[in-house]
Amino acid sequence: MLFEEIASALAEPGWCVIPNFLSIDETAALRTECLAAHTNGEFHRAGIGRGVSSQQSEIRGDHVLWIDEAHAGQVLQDLLKKLEALRQAVNQQLFLGLFDAELHFAVYPPGAGYCRHLDRFQDDDRRTLTVILYLNENWTRSDGGLLRFWPEETQSPQEIEPLGGTLVTFLSDRFWHEVLPAHRQRLSLTGWFRRR
Ligand code: OGA
Ligand code: MN
Repeated sequence: MLFEEIASALAEPGWCVIPNFLSIDETAALRTECLAAHTNGEFHRAGIGRGVSSQQSEIRGDHVLWIDEAHAGQVLQDLLKKLEALRQAVNQQLFLGLFDAELHFAVYPPGAGYCRHLDRFQDDDRRTLTVILYLNENWTRSDGGLLRFWPEETQSPQEIEPLGGTLVTFLSDRFWHEVLPAHRQRLSLTGWFRRR
């Protein structure tokens, strides 16, 4: 069972990459939803941190739209069901006490990236598990936009292509990562499962 395999990978080594976690159709439907909202002007520049300490900066160049689960359409509801199955499998195997999720679409304009960082905020340690789902069509290496991911802080990073349908998931407090600038628009849906 896929969700249990993912949970095992999260137990050790703490991260995994799952190509085709979403089908081509699911990916296309989410991409359409993301682009429609983007065209509609619903996105805003992403900040760093939360609340008053949140600031925009050159650390990250993406634009985001937070997902409102209460008003999610069918496409998002189907995804939320899948993520709920993942949450339950992870809680059963790892006892992480994952409680809820915050999710956003992210659009990186050409040339935008996100400097090397950890996902857990200094002033809020609830973010526990990161999930990234790429929504890009026909991505090739020459498009750039690689996710650089350090399984060990002192070793060389993995380079993960943002291929549509791929899931990247990892323990939020442990792994340094960075988004290299892309030469075309780069789409994803990113979220964090939180404990209370
Ligand atoms: C993030 C992030 C990576 C990616 O949003 O915190 O690191 O590949 N995203 O989009
Ligand atoms: Mn991150």
